[in-house]
Order: sequence, then C-alpha cells, then structure tokens
Amino acid sequence: MSKTYIIAVIPGDGTGPEVVAEGMKVLAAASRKFGFTLEYTNFDFGGERYLRTGETLPGSAIGELGKFDSIFLGAIGHPDVKPGILETGILLKIRFALDQYINLRPVRLYPNVETPLRDKGPEHIDFVVIRENTGGIYTGHGGATRVGTPDEIATQLMIYDRRTVDRCLKYAFELKKKRNAKNPKYAEKPITLIHKRNVLTHCGDLWYRAFEEMGAKQYPELKRDYNHVDAANMWFVKNPEWFDVTVTENLFGDIITDLGAMIQGGLGVASGGNINPEGVSMFEPMGGSAPKYTGKKVINPMAAIGAAMMMLDTLGEAGAAQAIETAMMAVMRKMKSQAAGNMGYSTTEVGDMVADLV
Ligand code: IPM
Ligand code: MN
Repeated sequence: MSKTYIIAVIPGDGTGPEVVAEGMKVLAAASRKFGFTLEYTNFDFGGERYLRTGETLPGSAIGELGKFDSIFLGAIGHPDVKPGILETGILLKIRFALDQYINLRPVRLYPNVETPLRDKGPEHIDFVVIRENTGGIYTGHGGATRVGTPDEIATQLMIYDRRTVDRCLKYAFELKKKRNAKNPKYAEKPITLIHKRNVLTHCGDLWYRAFEEMGAKQYPELKRDYNHVDAANMWFVKNPEWFDVTVTENLFGDIITDLGAMIQGGLGVASGGNINPEGVSMFEPMGGSAPKYTGKKVINPMAAIGAAMMMLDTLGEAGAAQAIETAMMAVMRKMKSQAAGNMGYSTTEVGDMVADLV
C-alpha cells in the first residue's frame, strides 16, 4: 500500500493562496510519480478571518494542527490589521505551540538566478541558516511601565535555557554531518555559530559554551567556527562561500535570513521550514502576503514550491524532493527573472512548468 500523508494547508492572506496552489500542483505531480498520497485539509486562518470574527486562531486550532503529518502555509499579513496581531496570534503561536524549534532556511543561489552580489555565482552561495525558533526575545518576557510618559520603560528579554540551546545545536551538528557526507565541498567548511558574545556575555556565553562542548565531545571530526552576528552579516555579502551550516538564536536568525534571501535571489525563491524534529513541522515561503501583487498572477511561486519540496524531504520522500528541486532549477533557467511581475511567465505558468518536469 502506498504511503498517505495528511497535510494541513493554511493558504492565508494576499498572494498566499496563489502560491500555495502552485505548490500543491507540484506536490500532486510528485505524488503521482513517486507513488504516495497526499490528503489535504484547508484552514482559513489569516487576516480575512480575523477581520470577520475577531479571532486569530480558534481555541481548537493547535490541537487540530497537531494531528497532521505536516503544515503547508502561504502567507499571513493583512493591510487592514495592525502589525503584530496576526504575526503573534497565528504564525508565532503555531511555531511555539507545536514546538517547532528549528527554523531551517537554506540560502542557495540556483543557476540563472540573479544575485545582487557582484562576482558571486551558485558555486559561492550554498549554505543554510538554522535559526532557533522558540526562544530568545520572541518569548515575549518583559513589559512596559509608565507608558506614554517621559519616564516610560520597556523591556523585552532574551531568554535561553541550556536545553533549548542544546536541542538546536544538536540539529545543526547532525545536519552538518549529513551535508559533509553528501558533498566533499561542504566538508571543507566549518559549522558556524553566530551570536554576539562580545556584548551578550550571558546569552552569547551560554550558546558558545554549549556549541564548543557539544562539538568537542560529540562531533570532534567537524570543523567549528564562530562569528559575531554583525561580522557574519558582512561576510554573507563579502564571502558567502565561507559558509555551510550556520546556527544562531532567534532574532539574529530572523535578521540574517532576510539578508540570506536577498543574496540567493530574493523573497521569490526563499523557502523555510519551521521544524519540530519529533513532531509536526510547518513549511512556508519566506515572503509575506504582498498585497500589491495580490490577484495579478505575477507573484513568484518558486519559494512556495521550494517549501513544498522541503516538506517532502522532511516527511522522508527524499527522491520526490530531489525531483522537485531538479525541476525547479530547469524552470529557473527559462525564467527571465525571479522578481514578481518580471518572470516572463505568470504564477500559474511557472507552477505548470515545474509540475510538468517533476
Ligand atoms: C519571519 C517573519 C516573522 C518572524 C514575523 C512575521 C513574525 O519575519 O518568519 O522571518 O519574525 O519570525
Ligand atoms: Mn523575518
């Protein structure tokens, strides 16, 4: 009997539904070719639902989502909803409640995709950022007093405990081992911890010691390196070829992965996975809901297709994931650009072409 995976789909807002549809088209092609079945359940979480009902996620949502094999998300964000409500009420809520403690963001420049980095090509830009996804400043510890007065005080604390750090590092070291085995080019490069331990002497020190201890004891064969986050930003631009697996805390990871997305060709091609290695993961294109492109069929679905590919890989369908990536690369070679509105094809045409080649 063929394997069946049950997938929760959250198309979300703006261009989310458009790109999710193309991702599903490609998933359908892969499931036919590789002999597995995907069953979908749609959830209407997002800005429209919030404006209609006043609710971000219903009370039952997390329990229900937790029953699926995986979650495929389009985009969350609505121009008529105040910033912060949907982000914390939906996206961050799911990441935290389902303990998706890894945010895996590959930064890979595919052939024929334009990067703003002069003199850099696909051979230079091929690394991953592992962003810790449940701790740090995102935990929301802190508060504000005397709000609105000249004496106002606000705090938002960077919280980390050893267990949260260790489980993230473990994932990073294991991924580094896998990548080294796959490609000798990766094996020449270190695993890099990114933090700011020259200033964050408590949190940075915790991460650094945990990294050094785990590396020395459990992975002595792997080269280790450390970069301060400001310097890492600089090297991502100047010498991206130095990097393979990088690992960092939540907010730093948020910031450097937008830079990563740009050097790999923009948000049209950047995908990410919110991964709970022991539970239910959620895959998404990194871009937002792009209101100005909504309904025009000009948004690039590649990032959503890439997210679908990552989802299959995580579900254990490595062959299908590889086939999707190969098809994506072939289609990227034909496209004029990866920028919305300038692809030389419509959103659905890009999805059709990838699906045809899987
Ligand atoms: C991201 C986004 C989110 C984050 C926002 C929308 C809450 O920027 O996925 O990188 O900060 O994690
Ligand atoms: Mn971000």
